[in-house]
Amino acid sequence: MKVYAAPLQGYTEKFFRNAHGSVIGGIEEYYTPFLRLEQGAVRGKELSDVEKTENLFPEKTVPQILVKNASELSFFAEKLFFERGWKRIDLNFGCPYPPVVKRGYGAGILENLSAMREVLECTAKFPRIGFSVKCRLPEKEENLRILQEYPLVHIVLHPRKALQEYRGTPDEEAFARFCAFRGKNPVIYNGDIFSPENVPSFVRENNLSVMAGRGLLQDPLLGRKLAGEHFSPEAENDLNRAFHDAFLAFLLEGTKKAEEKLPRLKTFWEYFLPQKEKRLRKRVLKSRSFAEYALAVKEIFET
Ligand SMILES: Cc1cc2nc3c(=O)[nH]c(=O)nc-3n(C[C@H](O)[C@H](O)[C@H](O)COP(=O)(O)O)c2cc1C
Repeated sequence: MKVYAAPLQGYTEKFFRNAHGSVIGGIEEYYTPFLRLEQGAVRGKELSDVEKTENLFPEKTVPQILVKNASELSFFAEKLFFERGWKRIDLNFGCPYPPVVKRGYGAGILENLSAMREVLECTAKFPRIGFSVKCRLPEKEENLRILQEYPLVHIVLHPRKALQEYRGTPDEEAFARFCAFRGKNPVIYNGDIFSPENVPSFVRENNLSVMAGRGLLQDPLLGRKLAGEHFSPEAENDLNRAFHDAFLAFLLEGTKKAEEKLPRLKTFWEYFLPQKEKRLRKRVLKSRSFAEYALAVKEIFET
């Protein structure tokens, strides 16, 4: 089973991807959090995340964009392909946040067939870029079928509707119905895979691939576990520690004040290793200095 690492804004930027690829691996492709245009420009921080030189595994990395028309798509094709040499681009047709959806972006585009066609048709102008789509369930399931009329690398479907955001259970039957509608492009399953037992039987039986998001943040070894690997508790602890240390090293690179990165380190621990003792995780999440943080983390891995 191929496992793809989902994009999560605020969590899976280059520090996460580089550390994960260096220490753990087992991932087919890493997706960047979405880039978007704000008042005609992209934020410097977002662009720095997709500089080829900043990505240790560019051949396994896919920049994702949030666009709703042909001109925005062309803008990003210029920035990513012509200026930076990325040969893959992922289209975000799934972001459920109401301000995004209301403006016709993310899952909002699934409700506007002419906008969806405009963007998909525009991909043909860039035949040297492989485009993929990551989406949710639209209000009317048949809207998804349009995606199968255009040549894409694949379609990742998270079978929840935008209104659900991350509530309720993913609709595995709706996912299977979309797969039954045969089209040009392979379909990948995404949603609530936190351990190998969570893989829907439909996905296993049909030998499909999966994309993992929060599950991989919680358990960085998830990709390898999904591929059938087993780890002793000691090996698992060592790998998680090495992964954390690599993430920390990438994050602190070129920084004089480790203190400034404390908020980002705490964000990392929001999902990481939820099975660890609550008291110890709380110490990490409440640490007030880098020294306190480092001590709390040491205790987590050595207890
Ligand atoms: C905090 C957060 C940020 C996310 N950012 C993105 C994003 O930038 N692009 C995207 O396509 N999906 C984004 N997602 C959705 C995830 O990629 C994924 O589809 C979702 O979490 C369901 O998969 P999971 O259950 O494996 O986490 C985000 C989700 C969360 C919780």
